[in-house]
Amino acid sequence: MHKIGIIGAMEIEVETLKSHMQIENTLEKASMTFLEGTLNNIPVVIVRSGIGKVNAGMCVQILTDLFHVTHVINTGVAGSLNASIDIGDIVVSTDTLYHDVDATGFGYPLGEVPQLGTLTFTADAEMIAQAKSSCETVNPEIKVFEGRIVSGDQFVSNPQVKETILNNFPGSYCTEMEGAAIAHASWLNRIPFVIIRAISDKADDSAHMDYPAFEKAAAEHSARLVEHMIQHLA
Ligand code: ADE
Repeated sequence: MHKIGIIGAMEIEVETLKSHMQIENTLEKASMTFLEGTLNNIPVVIVRSGIGKVNAGMCVQILTDLFHVTHVINTGVAGSLNASIDIGDIVVSTDTLYHDVDATGFGYPLGEVPQLGTLTFTADAEMIAQAKSSCETVNPEIKVFEGRIVSGDQFVSNPQVKETILNNFPGSYCTEMEGAAIAHASWLNRIPFVIIRAISDKADDSAHMDYPAFEKAAAEHSARLVEHMIQHLA
């Protein structure tokens, strides 16, 4: 039986899903409020993790230890790193990595956490496929892309920083602040996961204007997809 952990970093990313669920149990842990119950009869735990990698990783561990979730889905917004991925479009992660980890002094590739044995965290193939087909069903007017998401404890709003990230990790689709930590913690616990992000800005000098303007609509695109896809996971 599935039990799906659904994480949004911010309230705006999970508020609609929370309002649609039947809550059976509420748990406060590590300053996070875990809502356990069902969403369209599917067992779920929905939680706002807070922003950044530590909050995100902790949140997954609590979902694993205390709720025994079988899948983890991260829903939210991101800054685009690809000129053909526009505000409002959706990116489903193929894999994720940290763009801000640097142990190159010890010979590790940029982004790789020493002694972990992997640079990237690969999302679950079935969850990717379901996310894409759900997007085509519920958001037919929205373009959905499948690609690499890079994370760091940085809101990227400087074109030089964006360029550096792209030079370091060519072909990355979008950037945000939790996906790789959620993926990392899921990977350590051997739980299938996928990161789903709708684009709120272009991670450049227009980001501080675009982000507040498009955050809500983007967060809703992603959440609508998640609500649909959980009903179709095998
Ligand atoms: N989330 C949404 N936009 C972002 C950006 N530009 N950088 C980091 N996280 C984001």
